[in-house]
Amino acid sequence: MSFALGLVGCGGMGRRHIRGIERLAKTGTLNFELAAVCDVLPANSGMAADMAEAATGLRPGQFHDFEHMLKTVKLDGLIITTTPEMHTGMGMLALDAGLHIMVEKPVTLTVAEGVKLVAAAQSVGKRLAVAENYRRDPINRLARALIDKGAIGRPYLAVQSSSSAGENVVITPWRHLKNRGGIVVDMGVHYTDILEYLLGPMDSVFGLNTVVDAQRRDANGIMHPADAEDLSVGVAQFRSGAVANWLLNMAGRGENHFARMVYGIGGTLGIPGDRTGQPLRLTMREDGQDRPLTNDDLLALAPEYHLDRVTAALFGGERLTHYELEWATIDANLLGIEQADFVEAVVSGREPEVDGVQGLRSLALVFAFLESGLLGRMVHVDDILAGRLSAYEASIGATP
Ligand SMILES: NC(=O)c1ccc[n+]([C@@H]2O[C@H](COP(=O)([O-])OP(=O)(O)OC[C@H]3O[C@@H](n4cnc5c(N)ncnc54)[C@H](O)[C@@H]3O)[C@@H](O)[C@H]2O)c1
Repeated sequence: MSFALGLVGCGGMGRRHIRGIERLAKTGTLNFELAAVCDVLPANSGMAADMAEAATGLRPGQFHDFEHMLKTVKLDGLIITTTPEMHTGMGMLALDAGLHIMVEKPVTLTVAEGVKLVAAAQSVGKRLAVAENYRRDPINRLARALIDKGAIGRPYLAVQSSSSAGENVVITPWRHLKNRGGIVVDMGVHYTDILEYLLGPMDSVFGLNTVVDAQRRDANGIMHPADAEDLSVGVAQFRSGAVANWLLNMAGRGENHFARMVYGIGGTLGIPGDRTGQPLRLTMREDGQDRPLTNDDLLALAPEYHLDRVTAALFGGERLTHYELEWATIDANLLGIEQADFVEAVVSGREPEVDGVQGLRSLALVFAFLESGLLGRMVHVDDILAGRLSAYEASIGATP
């Protein structure tokens, strides 16, 4: 195999990416070799190397110093799975070393950094992919195919709404700190990406945001500071004229909920939680009556719906309407799809599905909710991307 990838950051997500490699290897769709892994914690890089060796039969080189890895191993591309505040610095170094890069979401800590990283990749002619996984779920692919086909007529409203997590630490304490990413940014970029994936570009947003929990409890009962917003409420408008209702409550006590709905003139599309494999719920409005469709009806409405070769191999079907797999397998499949797409994009000279520009839009849209909250008015995403509105971002203290 000729394409050599490195991976930096062997924490939770770095190791989940190795499960993705394992799934590609198992299904005969692996199009690269993991040549090196790097983490400042030898235990983490060791675990990653062990997992990669078990998955592929090849043990990647193991490094604890990122720049040393770049100088020592001949790599074609790099997956960056460190925390957001490191994405820009590592990405720049990798681009300078002649590598194509795929960065975990959010593309960077701030919009200003993202603009720099996108420009740097463009100026050296290297691919910059963003590892955005939710849209790759087969059920979201079918949702998009149905909307594109006009199955619910002209969409005029989307709802993206969720509440969960209570007063607990979500996975790691750094996610609750503004200068490391912040939980509304961390989760929000998935949802701004999926909204644009389904309904096209969003232009303007209005948001209200709050820190509900200034401290969060981890699994051992230890309290950690949390200065980042954990509740974001808002509305947005798509370029098409459709509007969106936005609620991201990461301080939700009691009953959790998740709702993603697209309302069209001809019906509604209910989209289940990502990575659940649950079927879509499409209700058609005909002659003033509502008619729920079956999964077979959905396939008949979307004759062009075919999952790409890698997705079909990983999920076991080309025209899936639902699936039943363990969560860890679903998660690994989606990461494998990102990796295969990144490598194929580089090799064939096309853009990856989620490139730096799209990853940056997803980030800018979440910052638009946050900037809007400070300003008390609707803001345009172009003003965020151009750095014309950046008071919230400046408050992070990380603007370059
Ligand atoms: N797409 C998803 O569903 C999803 C889920 C979780 C995390 N993520 C993203 O993945 C990224 C990583 O998150 P995580 O949960 O794995 O974080 P983490 O804290 O678990 O892991 C970060 C790792 O980076 C290592 N590291 C720190 N400094 C380093 C350096 N200088 N050189 C090499 N390694 C270094 C740490 O030791 C740690 O092992 C974030 O951008 C996060 O938003 C995405």
